[in-house]
Amino acid sequence: MIQPAADADGRAGPAGTDDVGAPGDSFLRPRYRVDLRRTPPDVFEDLSDTDWSRLSWRDLGEPYRVTRMSRHRERWEEEHGREMPVPVQWERFNRAFHDLFSTDVPRERRQRAGELVRRIASLDLPGAWEAARRLTRISIWNHVHRVEDAVWDPRGKRALFRDLDVDRPEILFLGAAEGYEAMQLLAMYPGGRAVLVDYDEFCRTDRFGDFPRRYPFLGTDPATGGETVHRRGEMEIDYVVSDIRDLETGPRFDIVLSVGLLEHFPDEYKPMVFDWHRRFLKPGGYAVLTTPRRQVRSRLFYLAMSEIMNYGYRELMDARQLGLYAFENGFEVLRCGYIKAHNGLVARAR
Ligand SMILES: C[S@@+](CC[C@H](N)C(=O)[O-])C[C@H]1O[C@@H](n2cnc3c(N)ncnc32)[C@H](O)[C@@H]1O
Repeated sequence: MIQPAADADGRAGPAGTDDVGAPGDSFLRPRYRVDLRRTPPDVFEDLSDTDWSRLSWRDLGEPYRVTRMSRHRERWEEEHGREMPVPVQWERFNRAFHDLFSTDVPRERRQRAGELVRRIASLDLPGAWEAARRLTRISIWNHVHRVEDAVWDPRGKRALFRDLDVDRPEILFLGAAEGYEAMQLLAMYPGGRAVLVDYDEFCRTDRFGDFPRRYPFLGTDPATGGETVHRRGEMEIDYVVSDIRDLETGPRFDIVLSVGLLEHFPDEYKPMVFDWHRRFLKPGGYAVLTTPRRQVRSRLFYLAMSEIMNYGYRELMDARQLGLYAFENGFEVLRCGYIKAHNGLVARAR
């Protein structure tokens, strides 16, 4: 079941054990956490029994809008004398975010701390300030992605994706980036197939292309129905580089998924985003969406990481707001609540 793999994502498993992980394990590697613990009840805060028909925007208020933009976007706009086009915003975001995922975090922190000490010792105050900013950013990334595992959040995603009535599902992932959540779904519902769609070619070549071969996804053993670990190499995945609006596939998917897509569209465009999910679903199929949570920690994250993350329009909403958007756009909300850093929703077209 556990195969050694050839990717170079470091070796940091518990001493004396196979460092690729087995069900029940959790440990840190240089670029991410392995978390194969069975889901305890606290990872999904479930608001599914909300009566969506009785909620109103007056009760809920508006999502919070992140306004601090990356200095790189500001510079680009000064140079080009026009607003940065949305596809370019995504190209910049995807490269900067991928750099973080590719970083050996403990080594980078040591280097940044050493640089800070050297700059202070040589009384280079602007250099020390820049070194301190970089050390802060990599330390935040370490905490959010490795220690807390709040970006991939496998336990939260497993809790959100559980008990779907699908067999060998056809999965469509809109704005897939590296495709993590489609892989988690394929591990839980083995024998299915995923189509990942993103209009940034870099996502296919690098974000998905470099995704660690041996990252373990806890899922189901098709032979026994028990738990086992799956890896991307054994999954059927096609990557399509296309604008979602140009997709010509029909309504043939059991699950249409997006992660961090809806919040990039102001309210007048949200019906279009829900329509993107509905139009590719088989009758009775599931729309699965997650969006970042409106919480103090997330606001601080997007403030401290603005240079890397903030190239375009972004809202932070709470789970009730996500559920109400879905309900108002013609979906029956089957499951809705909080995982670590995101809201999660499972819905069906009404
Ligand atoms: C915020 S990312 C998704 C979050 C993702 N989980 C991550 O880790 O980056 C949204 C993705 O959607 C893609 N995207 C946005 N609009 C799109 C469109 N109209 N067609 C295809 N892809 C799109 C972007 O290129 C980007 O990779």
